[in-house]
Amino acid sequence: GPAIVRTVAELRARVTGWRRTGDRIAMVPTMGALHDGHLSLVRIGFERAERVVVSIFVNPTQFAPHEDFQSYPRTEVRDMELLELLGTDLVFAPSAAEMYPPGFATRIETAGPALGLESDTRPHFFGGVATVVSKLLIAANPDLAIFGEKDYQQLAVVRRMARDLGLPVEIVGAPTVREPDGLAMSSRNAYLSPEERDIAPVLHDVLMQTAAALRGGVTPDQALDDGRRAILAAGFRALDYLDLRDAQTLEPVPDGSASGRPLRLLVAAWLGRTRLIDNCAV
Ligand code: PAJ
Repeated sequence: GPAIVRTVAELRARVTGWRRTGDRIAMVPTMGALHDGHLSLVRIGFERAERVVVSIFVNPTQFAPHEDFQSYPRTEVRDMELLELLGTDLVFAPSAAEMYPPGFATRIETAGPALGLESDTRPHFFGGVATVVSKLLIAANPDLAIFGEKDYQQLAVVRRMARDLGLPVEIVGAPTVREPDGLAMSSRNAYLSPEERDIAPVLHDVLMQTAAALRGGVTPDQALDDGRRAILAAGFRALDYLDLRDAQTLEPVPDGSASGRPLRLLVAAWLGRTRLIDNCAV
């Protein structure tokens, strides 16, 4: 199976060996509890590089104290089996102390695409993500790193960060992998009760309907209003946002504007105690 290393020094030693023989290296950062969405990123890695490194690290700095850091699923043995089937070369699974040594005091500050949406309810989230992803990229020094469009705002924040810090890595976005009924695959889907699981695909349905309405000429105000109502009517407990943004900058789109720029619909909503996010192109 894939080798597993738990220190940055061991990770660097392996990657340096591959570099000497001219191999291209792809990295797939994850928090584990792997599903077909994660595995699709590994497959894309092998289409683009000779070596794929997967990191598995449940990053404490991107969870708020009231969030699910303690209960986040940890399934390392099964994750290793799945990664072995794909021919993954190396898994980097550091301890929290390896990533955050005693006295750790430096954190990346994000703005631009990090503003609004997730940040409205999770104000420290993207600072934690940007900090850990930059550390992972500096440690592994891959040619490319692959991130899912499932977490669309995260992908935009990581692209911006890599550009702003001048990291010598290509950030690659990968399409969202879905269950047959449209629900975006997520490690957090495991939290859903059978009743909630039945309701969950409504999120994707509403995104599709709202995008179709916008393409058909319905105003954003009207289309978003209808979509928000439909999500709550389906049994979601609360809606954090259903919004239309510039697909690249994630800036709000003024109602009635027709800039011709690509747009993205993004949603976050609560099913009982589980928070689900999704998005789609318009
Ligand atoms: P995690 O939620 O484990 O996701 C790891 C990667 O898998 C992310 O790039 C995410 O967008 C992608 N992914 C998740 N579900 C997907 C799906 N259904 N289809 C396609 N890709 C999917 O996102 C994180 O971890 C963390 O924030 C991390 C970037 C690792 C930093 O800690």
